[in-house]
Amino acid sequence: MATHVRKKIAVIGAGFVGSTCAHWAAAKELGDVILLDVNDGAAKGKALDLYESSPVELFDSRITGTNNYADIAGSDVVIITAGLPRKPGMSRDDLLATNAKIMKEVCLGVKQHAPQSVVIVVSNPLDAMAFVAKDVLGFPANRVLGMAGVLDGARMKTFIAEELKVSVKDINAFVLGGHGDTMVPMPRHCSVGGVPLLEIMSKEKVDAIVTRTRNGGAEIVGLLKTGSAFYAPAASAVQMAEAILKDQKRILPCAAYLEGQYGVKGLFVGVLCKLGGSGLEQVIELKLNEDEKKGLDNSIKAVTELVEALKKLEF
Ligand code: NAI
Ligand code: 2OP
Repeated sequence: MATHVRKKIAVIGAGFVGSTCAHWAAAKELGDVILLDVNDGAAKGKALDLYESSPVELFDSRITGTNNYADIAGSDVVIITAGLPRKPGMSRDDLLATNAKIMKEVCLGVKQHAPQSVVIVVSNPLDAMAFVAKDVLGFPANRVLGMAGVLDGARMKTFIAEELKVSVKDINAFVLGGHGDTMVPMPRHCSVGGVPLLEIMSKEKVDAIVTRTRNGGAEIVGLLKTGSAFYAPAASAVQMAEAILKDQKRILPCAAYLEGQYGVKGLFVGVLCKLGGSGLEQVIELKLNEDEKKGLDNSIKAVTELVEALKKLEF
């Protein structure tokens, strides 16, 4: 019998987002999962607990926990969720200095032990943490991505489906720009069963959904009070991982390292991407109207300022 080597997914950070990523990835049988955290007990305990659910849920994925980077060797995809989450009243940018230190430490481990992997950064502030990751890893642009647009787009789709009382499966929607208050939901590109959203929903309702999408992260923080969203973020990161692991060539909004697209060089910005076996396979540049262009330029400006602030920090 031919030996078939399973794919391997490393998830760094075994907190709410990381352990939920492990859960989705294992349940979808994307491969074996390594959960790594500085808190060895949390990583090992959550991994074992999840593994013990496999005979009930009937999935063949082995899940192990560790605090040792040597165990991530051979990983095809590494999802980085290590870092502090936002607390109420705290902006994503407040997390900058602390999480940059953590990101650097994590990426040194990934660079040494999983140098061929495709890395998906989740930790906030997302666009800056992806920048730190690329810088420390030294990987080419196709192998470092940030997760934000899939989540922000999923929130927008949820709100549209709820408003129109139709299946989420029939909604197409995405969000561009940075993962912050300046993100750019794209209602002109939304459709419901192929019908343009703007033809079937009033401008007031569309505007309300755009605003709720922009505040989607803060809405959950306000409710949870002790942390931030994790189910939808983890599902979103795992959708990106699946597209890569299965070479699906999916078109998903992701934070990508731009090398001239939209006139931007050397920054991570949320854009439409084709994801396949080699990671980022193409950035799809859209023709934007005046408002969309203004929105994206404003968001790029915010990401630029964030990265400028980052460059002034010692980490
Ligand atoms: P959490 O606090 O539940 O988990 C973070 C984990 O990171 C903890 O288990 C902690 O022990 C671990 N950690 C800290 N330093 C580490 C290090 N040096 N090496 C390895 N592990 C380390 O936080 P949660 O809710 O899981 O969020 C994780 C990150 O993801 C936060 O920065 C949060 O803001 C971000 N996030 C980003 C989203 C996005 O759309 N990009 C969405 C949701 C969360
Ligand atoms: C979110 O959008 C906290 O960035 C995270 O939920």
